[in-house]
Amino acid sequence: MFQNALAQAADEVSACLEQALANYPDIALTHGMRYAVSGGKRLRAFLVVEGARLYGVYPRQSIWAAAAVEALHAYSLVHDDLPCMDDDDLRRGQPTVHVKWDEATAVLVGDALQSFAFELLARKECSPNTETRIELIQSLAKAAGGQGMVLGQVQDIAAETAKVPLRLEQIIELQANKTGALIQWSAMAGPILAGQDVSSLRQYAAALGLAFQIADDIMDVEGDAAKAGKRLNKDKDAGKATFVSILGLDEAKKRSRELIDEAEAALAPFGDKAQNLREAARFVIARES
Ligand code: IPE
Ligand code: IPE
Ligand code: MG
Ligand code: MG
Ligand code: MG
Repeated sequence: MFQNALAQAADEVSACLEQALANYPDIALTHGMRYAVSGGKRLRAFLVVEGARLYGVYPRQSIWAAAAVEALHAYSLVHDDLPCMDDDDLRRGQPTVHVKWDEATAVLVGDALQSFAFELLARKECSPNTETRIELIQSLAKAAGGQGMVLGQVQDIAAETAKVPLRLEQIIELQANKTGALIQWSAMAGPILAGQDVSSLRQYAAALGLAFQIADDIMDVEGDAAKAGKRLNKDKDAGKATFVSILGLDEAKKRSRELIDEAEAALAPFGDKAQNLREAARFVIARES
């Protein structure tokens, strides 16, 4: 069930992104944008679609918000991989954008994808209700920028050269910003689309977001690079502050399992309707890519 739903959300979001990019000029920038938004697990898109379904909003509408967060996420990856950031040459099993084109193109592809995300949320297909569209735009701006993902990236880079290792609470905060903010937005877009209170999915999303980044950090140490589609064994030498760096592998795994129990418990009020989201939580710590 879950794997089918994830695959379906992935196909639908890819088609939506292609359609929305169809009128962009036929130049390297657009080719780079298409390249960067293709592939990936589409977990954030899935969270939007499933969260929306819980509140009675159908995929033909929620797919626009799902496409927006995948565009934003793709931008964050293009910039994360730049030589001045994590300096990676492989992403989703393919050369990174700055390797395939050049650094200037990669910076601009990221810039354009970020604008593209907000363009998608501003479309009438996303929501016929103007206030809903503004709420989605405002909340994604907050999750993505200097109070969210970008702040987390700043904290991540600063930690590499920090004189004193970060404390656990600081790592939790860093990860909640860097990765958690976009995952939280994804889970909360559904209730926003439905004009409902977002608080019932907040706890699920917070626990899931943190577990997701812990799993990524564990993958860096003991994952299979061919399956992951990116370079592994890099965080330690780069001096990254992660759950693994501070707690070790076993404790990090234990924490990620506890967080998934917490995420599942937070779904109890939704009963069977939330089965896909429950399985998504388990998938987050069992995944190999
Ligand atoms: C990778 O995100 C970057 C992190 C936030 C850890 P994903 O693991 O969701 O990457 P894709 O989208 O599936 O490639
Ligand atoms: C990336 O975290 C987070 C963002 C892109 C915001 P990582 O740097 O750990 O992600 P990977 O390992 O390169 O996918
Ligand atoms: Mg990084
Ligand atoms: Mg990276
Ligand atoms: Mg990583």
